[in-house]
Amino acid sequence: MTTLDLVIRGGTVATATDIMQCDLGIKDGRIVALAEHLEGDRVIDAAGQWVLPGGVDAHCHLDQPMSDGSVMADDFYTGTVSAACGGTTTVIPFACQMKGGSLKDAVADYHQRADGKPVIDYAFHLIVSDPTPEVLETELPQLIQMGYTSFKIYMTYDDLKLNDRQVLDILALARQEQAFVMIHAENADCIGWMVQQLERLGRLAPRYHAASRPMLVEREATHRAIALAELVDVPILIVHVSGAEAIEQIQWAQNRGLRIYGETCPQYLFLTEEDLGGEHGFEGAKCICSPPPRDKANQQVVWDGLVNGVFQVFSSDHAPFRYADPLGKQIQGTQASFKYVPNGIPGIETRLPLLFSEGVLQERIDINTFVALTATNPAKLYGLYPRKGTIAIGSDADVVIWNTDQSITLTNDRLHHNVDYTPYAGMTLQAWPEVVLSRGEVVYQQGQFTAAAGRGEFLACDRPAYAKPYRRDRPVV
Ligand code: URP
Ligand code: ZN
Ligand code: ZN
Repeated sequence: MTTLDLVIRGGTVATATDIMQCDLGIKDGRIVALAEHLEGDRVIDAAGQWVLPGGVDAHCHLDQPMSDGSVMADDFYTGTVSAACGGTTTVIPFACQMKGGSLKDAVADYHQRADGKPVIDYAFHLIVSDPTPEVLETELPQLIQMGYTSFKIYMTYDDLKLNDRQVLDILALARQEQAFVMIHAENADCIGWMVQQLERLGRLAPRYHAASRPMLVEREATHRAIALAELVDVPILIVHVSGAEAIEQIQWAQNRGLRIYGETCPQYLFLTEEDLGGEHGFEGAKCICSPPPRDKANQQVVWDGLVNGVFQVFSSDHAPFRYADPLGKQIQGTQASFKYVPNGIPGIETRLPLLFSEGVLQERIDINTFVALTATNPAKLYGLYPRKGTIAIGSDADVVIWNTDQSITLTNDRLHHNVDYTPYAGMTLQAWPEVVLSRGEVVYQQGQFTAAAGRGEFLACDRPAYAKPYRRDRPVV
């Protein structure tokens, strides 16, 4: 065997399916050996520690242009540094088409925003907000061919939402091109109507964001998205699922044999609507996101969904807006209606430590499920597997050695994002990465981030096998 550049020695290696007591050998940025007693130019001792694939965060927002004038706090540098320090080695943020704009231009602009900044590897999802004939017939097929094989569509937000007919157009295109569609499922008209009623009553505080989007708006849209996907016969993934009623819809569809996948996020395990505050004050704006966090009983149903396989993916939905900032949560001041508060919360760095501590170490999920949800499944769903998302011969050496013997009381100071708060401050975590490797390079070790801006590589995604229709031999009409 050729000399190894690096050996990770004596750890317990886990993938989505296996647990192995072995050394891991790395050469030229890739995993080339899994064996006992490996020797290399450099050795990292991992005795007594878990050695896992680096996380793939398949739903995060970095430096995404916003139509309300707000500005995301994290760009491709701070966002990816923060990701890496929390054990994530691949991110997939969104190149967002504005209504009236070109999707191709949005992708070009997003590459410029990334230029020279990412410290870990990255791919792009697309957001399609204006499916014109040009987009459907020319831009999307070309972009899919170029490695942008997944896109998110919205059933709510005035600046992004599609009507059902437009959703069908996108789903049909995805079926034809074997691309993968993620859907933000909330009923826009119900929300608009509820917002109007709440404002008439002078109910403007952040907590009313949750009241304006009760779970039935998510349940109804989830059911509708599933029906539209069934009509076209194409798999979809429902993103950021918040609680029982949407989960029931997904489970119902899965039980009928439909290829409906589900994603959830830390905010639905660890926050509740109480975090949106009371009648007075504005601090609750920190936890405004859509769908909103629900209650403790729903948190348990979300945990159950991670255990019983309803969910395939656990993402951060990192949407970073600073709190005390006129370009962030306070864009219209602290007396403004909840409807003006930019939606989203930060969590790119805390995603994995939270799930490891509260999921694996509290024995709610096993280590293989952790790897599947946070790395392997997203890599498979979005056409990056087996280069990313696993520990196997030939895969990129994106590896995390975990220290699970800690007692960290989380503070925002500890984190590397550019947001001025974390919603999880005060939680005590037992797990945090000790060493993070990206393509064989140590990017984080014992609390120090050590890599250069711009070393991250853009990843063109394959057409995902998961995007194949159920009956691809049959035309829809
Ligand atoms: O509130 C959220 N989730 N904001 C981020 C954008 C989105 O819909 O994912
Ligand atoms: Zn969304
Ligand atoms: Zn999102």
